[in-house]
Amino acid sequence: MTAEPDASAKVGRPRSGAWFAAEARAGMIYRSWLRAEGITPEVFDGRPVIGVANSWSELTPCNAHLRAVADAVKRGVWQAGGFPLEFPTMSLGESLMRPTAMLFRNLMAMEVEELLRANPLDGVVLLSGCDKTTPAMLMAAASADLPAIMVTGGPMLNGKYQGADVGSGTHIWRFEQELVAGRMTQEECVAAESGMARSCGHCMTMGTASTMACLAEALGMQLPGSAAWPAADSRRYVTAQSAGQRIVGLVREDLRPSRIMTRQAFENAIRVNAAIGGSTNAVIHLLAIAGRLGVPLRLDDFDELARPVPTLVNLMPSGRYLMEDFCYAGGLTAVMRELQDFLHNEHVGVTGRTLAETVAGAECWNRDVIASLDTPLQPPGSGTAVLRGNLCPGGAVIKQSAASPRLLKHRGPALVFDSIEEYHRVAGRDDLPVDASTVLVVRGAGPRGYPGMPEIGNFVLPRKLLERGVTDMVRISDARMSGTGFGTVVLHVAPESAVGGPLAFVRSGDWIELDTPGRALTLEVGDDELGRRRAGWVPVRPAPARGYARLYTEHVLQADQGADLDFLVGASGADVPRHNH
Ligand code: FES
Repeated sequence: MTAEPDASAKVGRPRSGAWFAAEARAGMIYRSWLRAEGITPEVFDGRPVIGVANSWSELTPCNAHLRAVADAVKRGVWQAGGFPLEFPTMSLGESLMRPTAMLFRNLMAMEVEELLRANPLDGVVLLSGCDKTTPAMLMAAASADLPAIMVTGGPMLNGKYQGADVGSGTHIWRFEQELVAGRMTQEECVAAESGMARSCGHCMTMGTASTMACLAEALGMQLPGSAAWPAADSRRYVTAQSAGQRIVGLVREDLRPSRIMTRQAFENAIRVNAAIGGSTNAVIHLLAIAGRLGVPLRLDDFDELARPVPTLVNLMPSGRYLMEDFCYAGGLTAVMRELQDFLHNEHVGVTGRTLAETVAGAECWNRDVIASLDTPLQPPGSGTAVLRGNLCPGGAVIKQSAASPRLLKHRGPALVFDSIEEYHRVAGRDDLPVDASTVLVVRGAGPRGYPGMPEIGNFVLPRKLLERGVTDMVRISDARMSGTGFGTVVLHVAPESAVGGPLAFVRSGDWIELDTPGRALTLEVGDDELGRRRAGWVPVRPAPARGYARLYTEHVLQADQGADLDFLVGASGADVPRHNH
């Protein structure tokens, strides 16, 4: 019963005309079945058909309110003369999915890309929120390259416990340390958890969700102010309705993601990430999005571009406030106005205006939350650093603003674990051969090794040291860290141990030197000895035998390349492939 879209009907019409403008049987099929939804016939008059890609799911609590956001978007699309069609996408609940939501980021990106390409859409509004849903949708939009605008769901209201602000994620790690050290009871933890998530929305610290929302705005892919409005604030819905109006204009102007997410846009995003004290996960996600567009972006760009930029935003985990405060202080437009000397001000985003025009009227209402360049929260160069050395030939990262300054330069003996589970089994033992100078190494947690590169890099310290008041140690892994996490943790070591990177050959007792100012991570073992260890190495775990995990492990790229699947890299476009012709 299906008919091929009539390519000739595309001429002079939006893309959807290839479906709906066709005459006779072909067009009838497309129109008739949609009219089963009770739609009047004038929607097929050539107006832009706008997809509302909704990652709503009750299994993704951070996105559970997105149906209401979609209603606001659709109001805007109708107002502007478009025809909205909402559809569900895969959703990734960071807090619930196992082994890690990151395993499925590429699957969601692939699914959304194919939905955009396969359906009669002229443009799309992307509704995201929780950590991986935002980069997955941006990767999809980059690949399909239909006019697109993102609306993130907004952060939760500030968490509250015992009269103080508590941040989602950040305080989980703090409370865990207190619990392990015996300074907090299980009952107190249960009371704290209810105050930590008291409205709809994503994590309200500057974790990965808030970071990626800000970077979507910095890239020019969502409307100014969109990142910060709390999910429960009526202005979140005003923004959504405005996005619905604007996407119709984007289609008419044919302003596509490939014209917005340029090298300039990524440079802006990297510098904004430094100023907001953003998540280390942004490194992997931006590399993956750029890869989908064919935009050249290297891991070292993150260090070089961010070095002159101070940290301005005083949010947990690097600072003390939360996203609600950030919003009331002026949000990202206030940050970008302050940063203008570092940004490409001529860049044009979904507004169709330049960055300079977009931020011209932005005010900062609270300098405690958004500092000025003259008196920054942290000096230039305190953002995410990229390390090199014989332990990480492909690079590694450390978030300096969330680390202990005294440990940024440190030398100590390694204590090595082949998995995070192996570490957890012994972390509570009194006879663990560890002191505060030990460098804890966990491997087997990279993209292929786990698989999916979980957020375990800021693993809890050994119990006996916590009881002695130790609050931070150097930790090294091929894993990621939650954007809400903190500590002196070296992450994303590449190549990972599972593919035979040098991390696989470290032994307990080897000495490791972390020199963050010198951007070096050195395993003090000679090349000859490393060569001998390499010759005797066998992979610790077998690769998955079936399903998506097998596809993923066979094709995932290393962290320094964005951990995308190798066959998804490179510009693609919206044309429907016709492999059988
Ligand atoms: Fe969804 Fe933190 S768990 S944003």
